[in-house]
Amino acid sequence: MELARRGATDVRPNPMVGCVVVGRTGEVLGAGWHHRFGGPHAEVHALETLERVDLSGATLYVNLEPCSFHGKTPPCADLIVERGVGTVVIGALDPNPRVSGAGAERLRQAGVSLRIGVLEKECRILNAGFLTRMTLGRPHVTLKMAQSLDGFVAPRKGTSQWITGDSARRRVHAMRSWADAVLTGPGTILADDPSLTVRHAPGRSPLRIVLDARGVVPDGAKVLSDGNRTLIVRAPQDPSGRIDLKSWLSDVDPSILYILVEAGPTLSSAFLAGGLVDELAVFSAPILMGGGMPSFTDPARKTLAEALRPGGVQYEQVGLDMLTTLSLRQP
Ligand SMILES: NC(=O)c1ccc[n+]([C@@H]2O[C@H](COP(=O)([O-])OP(=O)(O)OC[C@H]3O[C@@H](n4cnc5c(N)ncnc54)[C@H](OP(=O)(O)O)[C@@H]3O)[C@@H](O)[C@H]2O)c1
Repeated sequence: MELARRGATDVRPNPMVGCVVVGRTGEVLGAGWHHRFGGPHAEVHALETLERVDLSGATLYVNLEPCSFHGKTPPCADLIVERGVGTVVIGALDPNPRVSGAGAERLRQAGVSLRIGVLEKECRILNAGFLTRMTLGRPHVTLKMAQSLDGFVAPRKGTSQWITGDSARRRVHAMRSWADAVLTGPGTILADDPSLTVRHAPGRSPLRIVLDARGVVPDGAKVLSDGNRTLIVRAPQDPSGRIDLKSWLSDVDPSILYILVEAGPTLSSAFLAGGLVDELAVFSAPILMGGGMPSFTDPARKTLAEALRPGGVQYEQVGLDMLTTLSLRQP
């Protein structure tokens, strides 16, 4: 998994994959990872120096099922069989319809000893974007919200700007650089005129998307005038005249694996109400506002039993602020 992570955003929209080949006594014989989209897969790199080595007693570890089809590169499952690798340990099966168990089956039929599902949860989280795209046909969605400790994003009227501190701002910029697109609504553009680019962290700036059904975003807004890429979305709309988030998400460019929503309470709540948020990242500043615009408004729950409860929670102090990350769906 550590090797896989080195592929980072360079492999998009492919998954990050790392591979290690270990000998009978535990010595590392070969290791590699998928470096960039279109390049050789991790298994090819890990096996490249082992052409004349007897691998019948070796174990090949890989976080995602080896491919079984001719894509930009030949099937890795065939290569593993050709090299005579004795045992293969796979973290997670690949839900890509062109693989989905066929890679493992190819190995099994060739007599390779197989173990599937080792550190499976971690391996799936590692490629959450790829897996969400393959299984649900939409990108993985992280929703970020910055709020006062008592749950307000802004005074009811007037400007808000940054509630949280410099460290949180750097963290949000790093989250943007991991995303393929950052999404907001016209309310945020009109109130704050944000750039939504990456300036306080290393990495590339993602595509900016504004869901502006009524076309109210002015030409002079930074997202439309600073020279970086922005997609303004006007359709399709649901009966209320609002953009139908679920159908829009499933039509989004398939090369987009990760979307970061940085919108105000209206659009953020619509994403939550639609069950379209995989991960919720809430930065809480140690300030009390006593009133204002609440972070989330919809759907309002009548009883505590109906409250939205995450499958997992992580807490992290970022500067003076607290980052609470809620996992709402396991990839
Ligand atoms: N603290 C933070 O993390 C943070 C982040 C961003 C913004 N803010 C603050 O939030 C405030 C703005 O809040 P906001 O709620 O007005 O802004 P918003 O959520 O960014 O934009 C709201 C608009 O999104 C549009 N929209 C498009 N599709 C939608 C859908 N399916 N469902 C609902 N809305 C949809 C609607 O415009 P139409 O009616 O034209 O369709 C709606 O009025 C500002 O004060 C800003 O500073 C805070």
